[in-house]
Amino acid sequence: MRCDHTPAWQALQSHATAFRRFDLRDAFASDTHRASALSQSAPHVFADLSKNHTDTATEALLLALAEQTGLAAHRDAMFRGEPINPTEGRAVMHWLLRQPPGPPPTVRAELVEAPPTVRAELVEALAQVHTTLDAMLAYAEQIRADAQITDVVNIGIGGSDLGPQMAVLALQDFVIPGKRFHFVSNVDGHELAAVLKTLRAENTLFLIASKTFTTLETMTNARSALAWFRAQGGRDVARHFAALTTHVEAAAEFGIRTTFGFWDWVGGRYSMWSAIGLPVAIAIGATGFRDLLAGAHAMDQHFQTAPLAHNLPVRLGLLDVWYRNFLNYTSRSIAPYHSALRRLPAYLQQLEMESNGKRVDRTGQTLPYGTSPVLWGEPGTNGQHAYFQMLHQGTDVVPLEFIAVKKPTHGLKDHHELLLANAIAQAQALMLGQEDPGGHRHFTGNRPSTFLLLDALTPASLGALIALQEHRVFVSGSVWGINSFDQWGVELGKVLARDIHARIVSGDASGLDASTAGLLGRVR
Ligand code: F6P
Repeated sequence: MRCDHTPAWQALQSHATAFRRFDLRDAFASDTHRASALSQSAPHVFADLSKNHTDTATEALLLALAEQTGLAAHRDAMFRGEPINPTEGRAVMHWLLRQPPGPPPTVRAELVEAPPTVRAELVEALAQVHTTLDAMLAYAEQIRADAQITDVVNIGIGGSDLGPQMAVLALQDFVIPGKRFHFVSNVDGHELAAVLKTLRAENTLFLIASKTFTTLETMTNARSALAWFRAQGGRDVARHFAALTTHVEAAAEFGIRTTFGFWDWVGGRYSMWSAIGLPVAIAIGATGFRDLLAGAHAMDQHFQTAPLAHNLPVRLGLLDVWYRNFLNYTSRSIAPYHSALRRLPAYLQQLEMESNGKRVDRTGQTLPYGTSPVLWGEPGTNGQHAYFQMLHQGTDVVPLEFIAVKKPTHGLKDHHELLLANAIAQAQALMLGQEDPGGHRHFTGNRPSTFLLLDALTPASLGALIALQEHRVFVSGSVWGINSFDQWGVELGKVLARDIHARIVSGDASGLDASTAGLLGRVR
């Protein structure tokens, strides 16, 4: 049933009206169990949800909403490999990429009961996953051992860039010494040119990462990289270029012989676990990459098996629905208190906003309620000295998600305690506020936040953190009844850019609106 037609939705609306008087300070004062009731552990992640604008009654109603919209059945359909991406007619099986070898999971009765043909297909897909993974990791180890290759350049965009870039940065303490990693995504030639200036052809490996192998930015950069390589006297393309793609023939046509494939059931923004993760595998090695997959798999199992009331992705996803649709909070800010997680907000932006930025349901009907929030953020403590002013004293309420790491990997005295103190203090300040009859120093307080804590930032904990975020996006998308796995909204701009590009070359502005024609005239 569509979420806004359920009894739980109506009940949540009444609950939200009563909630206007909710105050976090009173909630803690009147319920000594609040912190523990609204906190939980999941694989590699501890989550304190208690500083959010919710109480146990809200959670109970949200769980009813999940039940009435068939969340568990939808989740199980994903894990059975059913084609839950209807507009592209595809299954959604990035979770299979982190499944250990052997038969698919038997933990859930639904899968055991899946028709034998479906089971056989999953078994076959998993075998292919591991054949490719083994080959890719062997190649990664070969590159790691190859002292002549000092620079690895990943050319890709969106999901073929953000995940590997975010992960290589996040895991910098695990990265092999003596190799540099570069990520080129933008069609803006300034980006590629700046990287090429630092390279020598004989020391460079280019990874051309594109699920479709047609994306304008990536193909343009790949062609320029190949031309530069040849102009530098490079001959051995097979040694210095590899492709990561589902479109193996297109890579071959491009002239690349070393290719690692993946499958159409892996969405671009869910692809860092596939061959798209090759830069990560080169950076942290085969064992590190398998740890990353294992951390994500542990979170998959938690999502599949934990009761919904104690299922962290479910709780976070439902909180997102509550905030978006009932309290009208339209954005969520991400504050990783770890500088190595500085690309995480950008990664999560694509994950949430490309997945759930939809205005129609799975059958194409226009929706009368809001979907994806705006996601944004910067690492703490930097954000504190920039936009936190607005979070504390602005007119809008923006739920903030802290991500902190208990153990640092550096030995510098005082820094980490100060960092963690700031994260905890910010969450406290947002909640407690401060009285000032004079006005300007008044903090209303009662501002919501979530606090996620990792013990250490490792391949396994990063894998779990990212899988947690993937599944929470699934949960809200599922309740909203949208297809979180297509991205038609990116197509129109691509088509129009082809037309405008031809017009920039030819100067033909006929038939254009006055603004577009004016801009065309100015850039020529
Ligand atoms: O244009 C959007 C998009 O299709 C993303 O969904 C995707 O991650 C990105 O472009 C890159 O696509 P590809 O990997 O096919 O080059």
